[in-house]
Amino acid sequence: MSKINGNMIDLDSKIYVAGHNGMVGSAIARALEKKGFDNLIFRTHNELDLMVQKDVEQFFEKEKPDIVFLAAAKVGGISANIANPVGFLMDNIIIQHNVIKSAFDSDVEKLIFLGSSCIYPTKAQQPLKEEYLLTGPLEPTNEGYALSKIVGLKACEYYNKQYGTNYIGVMPPNLYGINDNFDLKTAHVVASLIKKMHLAKINDEPQVEIWGSGNQHRELMFVDDMADATLFAAENYHGNSFINIGVGVDYTIRELSETIQNVVGYEGELFFDTTKPDGMFRKLLDVSNFNELGWKSKVSLEEGLKLTYDWFLENECKED
Ligand SMILES: NC(=O)c1ccc[n+]([C@@H]2O[C@H](COP(=O)([O-])OP(=O)(O)OC[C@H]3O[C@@H](n4cnc5c(N)ncnc54)[C@H](OP(=O)(O)O)[C@@H]3O)[C@@H](O)[C@H]2O)c1
Repeated sequence: MSKINGNMIDLDSKIYVAGHNGMVGSAIARALEKKGFDNLIFRTHNELDLMVQKDVEQFFEKEKPDIVFLAAAKVGGISANIANPVGFLMDNIIIQHNVIKSAFDSDVEKLIFLGSSCIYPTKAQQPLKEEYLLTGPLEPTNEGYALSKIVGLKACEYYNKQYGTNYIGVMPPNLYGINDNFDLKTAHVVASLIKKMHLAKINDEPQVEIWGSGNQHRELMFVDDMADATLFAAENYHGNSFINIGVGVDYTIRELSETIQNVVGYEGELFFDTTKPDGMFRKLLDVSNFNELGWKSKVSLEEGLKLTYDWFLENECKED
């Protein structure tokens, strides 16, 4: 019997959140629980390696989830992507293949796949509309990751067209927040800046170095806001492909850095190292299609940064 009635997913649906310990997966799990979904299933990476096809098949055959949120992936910042393009391309393609194919074989009713604004062509017109995907070359610093995500989005679309399935993609901007990765070798921009400024503050360092010119723009979304948007998309987006979800405004890295400086209370100088790459100059999503469905962002940048820094202080600072 269908677990989806019009724009509502039944609260007793069996929902598998893949990657529930990650930043996005944990936020999706929190959002589902908050809405009253109480039949959630999780597996840690240790319990189920999504790279191993046979194990993934057996898991789906046994558990038969109704709905799947695919938030497990190999994810990292610029330096990690430059160092390991093979890993970002191949691991993600394998994980996606295993989960999407097993979901199909076990009649999953709805699957939600995660794209990312960084997979649009590097020189695409801004703000980025859904139809700009695959209209030009990709950003070289994360091409492997971007290609894997495009394959995942296309796989969902092809399954829908060929077999009438209900697999959708959501395309969020840069995310930050609770459960973010604060390892300076692999962290994304917000977590990396929070940690660097926090360490500089407690060690009385006069200067914090920031990669790039500071002039590049980023749209940043608090991960719980994004999880709310993803659930909304799961119930209200009925297209065959994917939809942008985001806050609809962006900030320069300089503006972001100064806001983090205020939130952290760091009084030293910010040094922008122009010998390091900027990555894409701008990545602002056009979220008009999503807003027309009735969703609006609820968390401002400053509010999200304060919540993230509070979480960091409580959870990540013990070893510092
Ligand atoms: N972070 C962002 O700014 C952002 C922006 C746009 C889109 N997204 C998308 O959101 C999704 C999740 O990203 P995230 O930031 O939440 O990443 P994350 O914090 O690194 O979480 C990824 C999760 O996937 C798990 N995982 C990785 N490989 C696995 C495997 N082989 N088997 C089982 N589990 C595995 C990880 O487990 P372990 O840690 O135990 O390995 C982790 O729990 C990705 O698809 C990403 O592309 C993220």
